[in-house]
Amino acid sequence: MVKVLIAGGAGYIGSTIASACCDAGIIPVILDSLVTGRREFTAGRPFYHGDIADGPLVDRLFAEHPDIDAAIHCAGLVVVPDSVAAPVRYYRENISKSLEFVAHLLRNGCGRLIFSSSAAIYKASEDLTVDEDSAIDPRSPYARSKATCEAMFADVAAAEPLRVLSLRYFNPIGADPRMRTGLQFRRPTNALGRMIQARSDDVPFLITGTDWPTRDGSGIRDYVHVWDLAVAHVAALTRLDALPEPVTVVNLGTGTGTTVRELLDMFNRVADRPVAAREAGRRPGDTAGAYTRIDRAVRLLGWSPRYDIKEGIRHSLQWAAIRDDLLPELC
Ligand SMILES: NC(=O)c1ccc[n+]([C@@H]2O[C@H](COP(=O)([O-])OP(=O)(O)OC[C@H]3O[C@@H](n4cnc5c(N)ncnc54)[C@H](O)[C@@H]3O)[C@@H](O)[C@H]2O)c1
Repeated sequence: MVKVLIAGGAGYIGSTIASACCDAGIIPVILDSLVTGRREFTAGRPFYHGDIADGPLVDRLFAEHPDIDAAIHCAGLVVVPDSVAAPVRYYRENISKSLEFVAHLLRNGCGRLIFSSSAAIYKASEDLTVDEDSAIDPRSPYARSKATCEAMFADVAAAEPLRVLSLRYFNPIGADPRMRTGLQFRRPTNALGRMIQARSDDVPFLITGTDWPTRDGSGIRDYVHVWDLAVAHVAALTRLDALPEPVTVVNLGTGTGTTVRELLDMFNRVADRPVAAREAGRRPGDTAGAYTRIDRAVRLLGWSPRYDIKEGIRHSLQWAAIRDDLLPELC
Protein backbone atom coordinates (compact mmCIF):
# COMPACT_ATOMS: atom_id res chain seq x y z
CA MET A 1 0.00 0.00 0.00
CA VAL A 2 1.52 3.26 -1.12
CA LYS A 3 -1.17 5.87 -1.56
CA VAL A 4 -4.79 6.28 -0.56
CA LEU A 5 -7.31 8.87 -1.73
CA ILE A 6 -9.18 10.45 1.18
CA ALA A 7 -12.31 12.31 0.10
CA GLY A 8 -13.25 14.68 2.90
CA GLY A 9 -9.69 14.48 4.18
CA ALA A 10 -9.72 18.11 5.33
CA GLY A 11 -12.52 17.39 7.82
CA TYR A 12 -12.42 16.27 11.43
CA ILE A 13 -12.34 12.51 10.90
CA GLY A 14 -10.77 12.46 7.42
CA SER A 15 -7.80 14.58 8.49
CA THR A 16 -7.23 12.32 11.51
CA ILE A 17 -7.32 9.28 9.22
CA ALA A 18 -4.80 11.05 6.99
CA SER A 19 -2.46 11.55 9.99
CA ALA A 20 -2.80 7.88 10.98
CA CYS A 21 -1.98 6.92 7.37
CA CYS A 22 1.12 9.16 7.37
CA ASP A 23 2.25 7.60 10.67
CA ALA A 24 1.84 4.15 9.07
CA GLY A 25 3.87 5.08 5.97
CA ILE A 26 0.84 5.46 3.67
CA ILE A 27 0.59 8.69 1.64
CA PRO A 28 -2.87 10.27 1.84
CA VAL A 29 -4.03 12.22 -1.21
CA ILE A 30 -6.76 14.60 -0.10
CA LEU A 31 -9.83 15.62 -2.14
CA ASP A 32 -12.01 18.14 -0.34
CA SER A 33 -14.28 21.06 -1.25
CA LEU A 34 -13.56 22.76 2.10
CA VAL A 35 -17.30 23.28 2.58
CA THR A 36 -16.70 22.40 6.25
CA GLY A 37 -13.09 21.21 6.11
CA ARG A 38 -9.94 23.25 6.73
CA ARG A 39 -7.06 23.86 4.38
CA GLU A 40 -4.71 23.87 7.42
CA PHE A 41 -5.52 20.16 7.92
CA THR A 42 -4.07 19.33 4.50
CA ALA A 43 -0.67 20.92 5.12
CA GLY A 44 2.16 18.79 3.79
CA ARG A 45 -0.26 16.40 2.04
CA PRO A 46 -1.12 16.28 -1.66
CA PHE A 47 -4.39 18.27 -1.77
CA TYR A 48 -7.03 18.70 -4.48
CA HIS A 49 -9.52 21.45 -3.71
CA GLY A 50 -12.86 20.51 -5.23
CA ASP A 51 -15.94 18.40 -5.24
CA ILE A 52 -16.16 14.61 -5.20
CA ALA A 53 -18.65 14.86 -8.07
CA ASP A 54 -16.17 16.75 -10.25
CA GLY A 55 -15.14 14.08 -12.78
CA PRO A 56 -12.32 15.98 -14.54
CA LEU A 57 -10.78 16.84 -11.15
CA VAL A 58 -10.90 13.20 -9.96
CA ASP A 59 -9.42 12.12 -13.32
CA ARG A 60 -6.57 14.61 -12.90
CA LEU A 61 -5.95 13.42 -9.35
CA PHE A 62 -5.61 9.81 -10.53
CA ALA A 63 -3.48 10.81 -13.54
CA GLU A 64 -1.08 12.55 -11.15
CA HIS A 65 -1.22 9.72 -8.58
CA PRO A 66 -1.65 6.51 -10.58
CA ASP A 67 -0.42 4.45 -7.62
CA ILE A 68 -3.52 5.18 -5.51
CA ASP A 69 -5.09 1.85 -4.84
CA ALA A 70 -7.93 2.57 -2.46
CA ALA A 71 -10.30 5.38 -1.57
CA ILE A 72 -11.70 6.39 1.80
CA HIS A 73 -14.92 8.35 1.39
CA CYS A 74 -15.55 10.67 4.36
CA ALA A 75 -16.91 13.58 2.33
CA GLY A 76 -20.40 14.75 3.17
CA LEU A 77 -22.62 16.96 5.28
CA VAL A 78 -23.01 15.67 8.80
CA VAL A 79 -25.40 17.71 10.97
CA VAL A 80 -28.63 15.82 11.71
CA PRO A 81 -30.91 18.83 12.49
CA ASP A 82 -29.63 20.63 9.36
CA SER A 83 -30.56 17.58 7.32
CA VAL A 84 -34.11 17.76 8.71
CA ALA A 85 -34.28 21.44 7.71
CA ALA A 86 -32.64 21.00 4.28
CA PRO A 87 -33.26 17.45 3.02
CA VAL A 88 -32.83 18.31 -0.68
CA ARG A 89 -29.35 19.66 -0.02
CA TYR A 90 -28.42 16.66 2.13
CA TYR A 91 -29.64 14.10 -0.39
CA ARG A 92 -27.84 15.89 -3.21
CA GLU A 93 -24.56 16.29 -1.33
CA ASN A 94 -24.50 12.90 0.36
CA ILE A 95 -26.21 10.58 -2.13
CA SER A 96 -26.09 12.05 -5.65
CA LYS A 97 -22.49 13.15 -5.30
CA SER A 98 -21.44 9.83 -3.75
CA LEU A 99 -22.88 8.05 -6.77
CA GLU A 100 -20.92 10.31 -9.09
CA PHE A 101 -17.81 9.76 -7.01
CA VAL A 102 -17.98 5.98 -7.16
CA ALA A 103 -18.41 6.19 -10.95
CA HIS A 104 -15.28 8.36 -11.13
CA LEU A 105 -13.38 5.83 -9.01
CA LEU A 106 -14.39 2.93 -11.24
CA ARG A 107 -13.50 4.86 -14.41
CA ASN A 108 -10.04 5.38 -12.92
CA GLY A 109 -9.64 1.71 -12.05
CA CYS A 110 -10.00 2.19 -8.28
CA GLY A 111 -11.98 -0.78 -7.00
CA ARG A 112 -11.44 -0.50 -3.24
CA LEU A 113 -13.67 1.78 -1.22
CA ILE A 114 -13.97 2.40 2.49
CA PHE A 115 -17.10 4.38 3.29
CA SER A 116 -17.78 6.50 6.39
CA SER A 117 -21.19 5.32 7.49
CA SER A 118 -22.97 5.95 10.74
CA ALA A 119 -24.53 4.27 13.74
CA ALA A 120 -27.39 6.74 13.23
CA ILE A 121 -28.98 4.28 10.78
CA TYR A 122 -29.82 1.61 13.39
CA LYS A 123 -33.31 0.92 14.67
CA ALA A 124 -33.50 1.47 18.42
CA SER A 125 -33.43 -1.84 20.27
CA GLU A 126 -34.90 -2.62 23.68
CA ASP A 127 -31.53 -3.07 25.38
CA LEU A 128 -29.92 -0.20 23.37
CA THR A 129 -27.17 -2.44 21.99
CA VAL A 130 -26.70 -3.22 18.33
CA ASP A 131 -24.41 -5.16 16.05
CA GLU A 132 -24.03 -5.22 12.28
CA ASP A 133 -26.98 -7.62 11.89
CA SER A 134 -29.38 -5.39 13.82
CA ALA A 135 -32.29 -3.87 11.95
CA ILE A 136 -31.81 -0.46 10.46
CA ASP A 137 -34.34 2.35 10.59
CA PRO A 138 -32.78 5.68 9.65
CA ARG A 139 -34.78 8.52 11.24
CA SER A 140 -33.37 11.64 9.60
CA PRO A 141 -32.43 12.64 6.05
CA TYR A 142 -28.78 12.49 7.20
CA ALA A 143 -29.11 8.91 8.46
CA ARG A 144 -31.14 7.91 5.40
CA SER A 145 -28.43 9.31 3.14
CA LYS A 146 -25.88 7.00 4.83
CA ALA A 147 -28.13 3.92 4.58
CA THR A 148 -28.89 4.72 0.94
CA CYS A 149 -25.20 5.07 0.07
CA GLU A 150 -24.43 1.72 1.68
CA ALA A 151 -27.18 0.04 -0.36
CA MET A 152 -26.15 1.86 -3.53
CA PHE A 153 -22.50 0.84 -3.17
CA ALA A 154 -23.55 -2.78 -2.55
CA ASP A 155 -25.55 -2.76 -5.80
CA VAL A 156 -22.59 -1.32 -7.68
CA ALA A 157 -20.22 -3.88 -6.13
CA ALA A 158 -22.50 -6.70 -7.32
CA ALA A 159 -22.05 -5.59 -10.93
CA GLU A 160 -18.63 -3.91 -11.06
CA PRO A 161 -15.09 -4.71 -9.87
CA LEU A 162 -15.58 -3.00 -6.51
CA ARG A 163 -14.95 -4.06 -2.91
CA VAL A 164 -16.70 -1.93 -0.31
CA LEU A 165 -16.22 -1.73 3.42
CA SER A 166 -18.75 0.48 5.19
CA LEU A 167 -17.56 1.50 8.61
CA ARG A 168 -20.43 2.57 10.84
CA TYR A 169 -18.94 5.04 13.27
CA PHE A 170 -20.52 5.52 16.66
CA ASN A 171 -19.77 8.85 18.39
CA PRO A 172 -16.30 10.19 17.73
CA ILE A 173 -14.69 12.37 20.39
CA GLY A 174 -11.16 13.58 21.05
CA ALA A 175 -8.49 14.85 18.71
CA ASP A 176 -5.22 13.64 17.26
CA PRO A 177 -3.16 12.93 20.43
CA ARG A 178 -0.30 14.80 18.72
CA MET A 179 -2.67 17.78 18.22
CA ARG A 180 -2.21 18.02 14.44
CA THR A 181 -6.00 18.12 13.95
CA GLY A 182 -9.26 18.09 15.88
CA LEU A 183 -12.84 19.28 15.62
CA GLN A 184 -12.77 22.44 13.51
CA PHE A 185 -16.09 23.99 14.57
CA ARG A 186 -16.36 26.66 17.22
CA ARG A 187 -19.95 25.65 17.94
CA PRO A 188 -20.08 21.88 17.47
CA THR A 189 -23.43 20.13 17.79
CA ASN A 190 -22.24 16.96 19.52
CA ALA A 191 -22.59 16.61 23.31
CA LEU A 192 -18.91 16.88 24.24
CA GLY A 193 -18.37 19.86 21.93
CA ARG A 194 -21.36 21.60 23.52
CA MET A 195 -19.96 20.88 27.00
CA ILE A 196 -16.64 22.48 26.09
CA GLN A 197 -18.51 25.45 24.66
CA ALA A 198 -20.67 25.77 27.78
CA ARG A 199 -17.52 25.71 29.90
CA SER A 200 -15.84 28.50 27.93
CA ASP A 201 -19.03 30.62 27.74
CA ASP A 202 -19.67 29.95 31.45
CA VAL A 203 -23.27 28.88 30.79
CA PRO A 204 -25.09 25.63 31.68
CA PHE A 205 -24.89 22.64 29.35
CA LEU A 206 -28.28 21.72 27.83
CA ILE A 207 -29.21 18.06 28.18
CA THR A 208 -31.40 17.79 25.08
CA GLY A 209 -33.91 15.02 25.75
CA THR A 210 -34.46 13.65 29.25
CA ASP A 211 -37.27 11.21 28.53
CA TRP A 212 -35.44 8.60 26.48
CA PRO A 213 -35.77 4.96 27.60
CA THR A 214 -32.27 4.89 29.12
CA ARG A 215 -31.09 4.37 32.71
CA ASP A 216 -31.24 8.10 33.47
CA GLY A 217 -33.46 9.45 30.67
CA SER A 218 -30.68 11.18 28.73
CA GLY A 219 -29.53 9.88 25.36
CA ILE A 220 -27.00 7.04 25.31
CA ARG A 221 -24.01 7.01 23.00
CA ASP A 222 -20.90 4.95 22.32
CA TYR A 223 -18.10 7.55 22.45
CA VAL A 224 -15.12 6.33 20.47
CA HIS A 225 -11.84 8.21 20.28
CA VAL A 226 -11.27 9.69 16.81
CA TRP A 227 -7.69 8.40 16.80
CA ASP A 228 -8.97 4.87 17.38
CA LEU A 229 -11.36 5.37 14.45
CA ALA A 230 -8.48 6.56 12.30
CA VAL A 231 -6.31 3.57 13.22
CA ALA A 232 -9.20 1.26 12.28
CA HIS A 233 -9.02 2.68 8.73
CA VAL A 234 -5.33 1.87 8.49
CA ALA A 235 -6.13 -1.70 9.63
CA ALA A 236 -8.97 -1.83 7.10
CA LEU A 237 -6.68 -0.76 4.25
CA THR A 238 -4.35 -3.64 4.95
CA ARG A 239 -7.18 -6.18 5.34
CA LEU A 240 -9.62 -5.08 2.64
CA ASP A 241 -8.57 -7.69 0.09
CA ALA A 242 -8.70 -10.48 2.66
CA LEU A 243 -12.30 -9.79 3.74
CA PRO A 244 -14.44 -12.82 2.91
CA GLU A 245 -17.13 -10.83 1.07
CA PRO A 246 -16.84 -8.01 -1.49
CA VAL A 247 -19.31 -5.94 0.55
CA THR A 248 -18.76 -5.71 4.30
CA VAL A 249 -20.16 -3.64 7.16
CA VAL A 250 -18.25 -3.15 10.40
CA ASN A 251 -19.29 -1.11 13.45
CA LEU A 252 -16.64 1.06 15.08
CA GLY A 253 -17.41 1.82 18.71
CA THR A 254 -16.09 0.89 22.12
CA GLY A 255 -18.72 -1.63 23.18
CA THR A 256 -19.77 0.55 26.11
CA GLY A 257 -22.76 2.86 26.37
CA THR A 258 -22.47 6.20 28.16
CA THR A 259 -25.41 8.49 28.81
CA VAL A 260 -25.16 12.24 28.33
CA ARG A 261 -25.44 12.72 32.11
CA GLU A 262 -22.59 10.22 32.65
CA LEU A 263 -20.51 12.01 30.04
CA LEU A 264 -21.10 15.30 31.84
CA ASP A 265 -20.02 13.68 35.12
CA MET A 266 -16.77 12.48 33.52
CA PHE A 267 -16.27 15.86 31.88
CA ASN A 268 -16.58 17.60 35.23
CA ARG A 269 -14.01 15.25 36.73
CA VAL A 270 -11.51 15.91 33.92
CA ALA A 271 -12.08 19.66 33.33
CA ASP A 272 -10.54 22.27 35.61
CA ARG A 273 -13.90 24.06 35.95
CA PRO A 274 -17.22 22.18 36.25
CA VAL A 275 -20.19 22.84 33.97
CA ALA A 276 -23.75 22.99 35.31
CA ALA A 277 -26.58 21.20 33.52
CA ARG A 278 -30.01 22.37 32.39
CA GLU A 279 -32.65 20.08 30.94
CA ALA A 280 -34.21 20.77 27.53
CA GLY A 281 -36.43 19.01 24.98
CA ARG A 282 -35.33 16.64 22.23
CA ARG A 283 -33.74 18.05 19.06
CA PRO A 284 -35.30 17.19 15.66
CA GLY A 285 -33.95 13.94 14.23
CA ASP A 286 -32.40 12.80 17.56
CA THR A 287 -32.75 9.24 18.81
CA ALA A 288 -32.21 7.52 22.18
CA GLY A 289 -28.93 6.23 20.74
CA ALA A 290 -27.20 2.90 21.03
CA TYR A 291 -23.88 1.22 21.67
CA THR A 292 -22.33 -1.58 19.72
CA ARG A 293 -20.90 -5.01 20.17
CA ILE A 294 -17.45 -4.89 18.59
CA ASP A 295 -16.75 -8.57 17.88
CA ARG A 296 -16.76 -8.09 14.12
CA ALA A 297 -14.25 -5.23 14.18
CA VAL A 298 -11.96 -7.35 16.35
CA ARG A 299 -12.33 -10.43 14.14
CA LEU A 300 -12.18 -8.85 10.66
CA LEU A 301 -9.93 -5.85 11.24
CA GLY A 302 -7.90 -7.03 14.24
CA TRP A 303 -8.92 -3.70 15.79
CA SER A 304 -10.10 -2.67 19.21
CA PRO A 305 -10.11 0.79 20.78
CA ARG A 306 -7.19 1.89 22.90
CA TYR A 307 -8.33 5.21 24.40
CA ASP A 308 -11.06 5.60 27.02
CA ILE A 309 -13.61 8.40 27.32
CA LYS A 310 -11.57 10.40 29.81
CA GLU A 311 -8.66 10.50 27.37
CA GLY A 312 -11.10 11.57 24.66
CA ILE A 313 -12.36 14.40 26.87
CA ARG A 314 -8.81 15.40 27.80
CA HIS A 315 -7.68 15.49 24.15
CA SER A 316 -10.80 17.46 23.16
CA LEU A 317 -10.11 20.06 25.86
CA GLN A 318 -6.45 20.25 24.87
CA TRP A 319 -7.45 20.78 21.22
CA ALA A 320 -10.09 23.40 22.11
CA ALA A 321 -7.40 25.39 23.95
CA ILE A 322 -5.18 25.66 20.84
CA ARG A 323 -7.82 25.51 18.09
CA ASP A 324 -8.42 29.25 17.67
CA ASP A 325 -4.71 29.92 17.21
CA LEU A 326 -4.31 27.12 14.67
CA LEU A 327 -7.53 27.85 12.81
CA PRO A 328 -8.22 31.57 12.43
CA GLU A 329 -11.66 32.65 11.20
CA LEU A 330 -13.51 29.67 12.59
CA CYS A 331 -17.10 29.03 11.66
N1 LIG B 1 -18.67 13.21 13.31
C1 LIG B 1 -19.53 12.24 13.57
O1 LIG B 1 -20.12 12.20 14.65
C2 LIG B 1 -19.77 11.13 12.57
C3 LIG B 1 -20.43 9.97 12.99
C4 LIG B 1 -20.67 8.96 12.07
C5 LIG B 1 -20.26 9.12 10.75
N2 LIG B 1 -19.63 10.25 10.37
C6 LIG B 1 -19.25 10.40 8.97
O2 LIG B 1 -17.86 10.64 8.88
C7 LIG B 1 -17.57 11.47 7.76
C8 LIG B 1 -16.70 12.63 8.21
O3 LIG B 1 -17.38 13.38 9.19
P1 LIG B 1 -16.69 14.56 10.00
O4 LIG B 1 -17.26 14.55 11.36
O5 LIG B 1 -15.23 14.48 9.82
O6 LIG B 1 -17.30 15.84 9.25
P2 LIG B 1 -16.54 17.09 8.60
O7 LIG B 1 -17.61 18.05 8.19
O8 LIG B 1 -15.47 17.56 9.50
O9 LIG B 1 -15.86 16.43 7.32
C9 LIG B 1 -16.49 16.27 6.08
C10 LIG B 1 -15.50 16.75 5.04
O10 LIG B 1 -16.06 16.50 3.74
C11 LIG B 1 -15.86 17.67 2.94
N3 LIG B 1 -16.93 17.64 1.93
C12 LIG B 1 -18.26 17.68 2.13
N4 LIG B 1 -18.91 17.58 0.97
C13 LIG B 1 -17.96 17.46 -0.01
C14 LIG B 1 -18.00 17.29 -1.41
N5 LIG B 1 -19.17 17.22 -2.07
N6 LIG B 1 -16.83 17.18 -2.08
C15 LIG B 1 -15.64 17.24 -1.42
N7 LIG B 1 -15.55 17.39 -0.10
C16 LIG B 1 -16.70 17.49 0.62
C17 LIG B 1 -15.94 18.82 3.91
O11 LIG B 1 -15.32 20.00 3.44
C18 LIG B 1 -15.21 18.24 5.13
O12 LIG B 1 -13.84 18.46 5.05
C19 LIG B 1 -18.93 11.93 7.20
O13 LIG B 1 -19.23 11.16 6.06
C20 LIG B 1 -19.89 11.61 8.32
O14 LIG B 1 -21.19 11.33 7.84
C21 LIG B 1 -19.37 11.27 11.24
